[in-house]
Amino acid sequence: MIRVAIIGQGLVATHFAVGLERLKNNEIPDHGVPLGTRLPYKYSDIEIAASYDIDESKIGKSLYEIAKKSYEGPGEIPRALKDIYVRRGIHLASTRGLPIKARGREEESDLKIAVEEIIGEWSELGVDVVVNVMTTEPVEAVGSIEKLHRGFENADLTASQTYAYMAALYSSRYSSAAFINAIPSPIANDPAFIELYKNSRAVVFGDDGATGATPLTADLLEHLYERGRRVLGVAQFNIGGNMDFYALNMPERNIMKKITKSSMIEDILGYHAPNYIRPTGYLEPLGDKKFVAMIIEYLSFGEFKDELYIVARINDSPALAGLLVDLVRLGKLAIEREAYGTVYEVNAFYMKKPGPPGSKVISKFHAYLKLLKWLKLRDHRIPE
Ligand SMILES: NC(=O)c1ccc[n+]([C@@H]2O[C@H](COP(=O)([O-])OP(=O)(O)OC[C@H]3O[C@@H](n4cnc5c(N)ncnc54)[C@H](O)[C@@H]3O)[C@@H](O)[C@H]2O)c1
Repeated sequence: MIRVAIIGQGLVATHFAVGLERLKNNEIPDHGVPLGTRLPYKYSDIEIAASYDIDESKIGKSLYEIAKKSYEGPGEIPRALKDIYVRRGIHLASTRGLPIKARGREEESDLKIAVEEIIGEWSELGVDVVVNVMTTEPVEAVGSIEKLHRGFENADLTASQTYAYMAALYSSRYSSAAFINAIPSPIANDPAFIELYKNSRAVVFGDDGATGATPLTADLLEHLYERGRRVLGVAQFNIGGNMDFYALNMPERNIMKKITKSSMIEDILGYHAPNYIRPTGYLEPLGDKKFVAMIIEYLSFGEFKDELYIVARINDSPALAGLLVDLVRLGKLAIEREAYGTVYEVNAFYMKKPGPPGSKVISKFHAYLKLLKWLKLRDHRIPE
């Protein structure tokens, strides 16, 4: 069994909960789950043990009630979700400026008490994996483990840093856990957290789930690199109508996405090419199906200039939810292998900014092969 605690019961978490139950019931095929049935864990081994949010309109509601309101996919909402209720998490002002009535446990008692309570719940429930899909927050890496401990003592950390710290505390006291950081906060890219996780016999994957146009751009750049073409520039923008885009419309949150996407071009091409890659706007009628447009200009043989034009509508939340079905199983596997700290082979494929700090972004083609190697699997299409 893999027992999962969710942080942030928003659209991604709801798509994950609904999709997972429907997969277990054999109601949907597993498209969009990269490793599918090739991992030693079955879909039915995954169980959502708890979910945390700070939105007053969600706390105390079942995942079924939440899905009824926000899930727009085909099929019935699985009844098993009626048994999982959203618990109050830790707020630490993570939703400042957003139209959400939020309240965290620390606002009702005190941060230390709230932390101990939640860790106690994880230990009672036997949590193995914590999945962080809360609202993107503005935050920088802490840097050193001393500063990280001090930050925790003085309640100076952000919400996702505090949850990540809690997963390490839980691992050192009870049993090893994996923290999957699918949002841009630098956790797997923070030397302080890597050291903390190694010391605590815990695993962190991150940062920022690689969905949408970013992995596609990475693979297109790889193609151009391998063909010896010279990329002149990349312009890529996204407009969406979900809460995530609403939050990313705020400059201090938008900068987080720029950071997790910025090193990609130079890492893959080996040189700098002028670029503009980030979410650019919120337009409510687009809903969760974002609009992506991209132009890549490059020089071909004889200095002839070619242009690639890509226009797409991409369902945002299901894309990350499908990756999470792999990531929770890989988290459990990494714990079994005692791969404490982080695992680059996992991050390089599933994340926009793969940890540990200083790691290169590589194309998803290469990352996929690296991941298979780590798993001791092979791609049957490639001759030995
Ligand atoms: N394809 C994708 O959708 C994709 C890809 C990469 C990363 N992400 C990231 O995943 C995250 C979730 O995206 P979403 O579309 O589900 O957003 P969402 O706004 O629908 O959900 C976020 C949830 O987190 C909750 N939350 C905020 N602060 C919290 C806290 N301190 N504790 C617990 N819960 C808290 C909010 O109340 C909300 O319910 C975002 O940070 C987004 O940038 C999404």
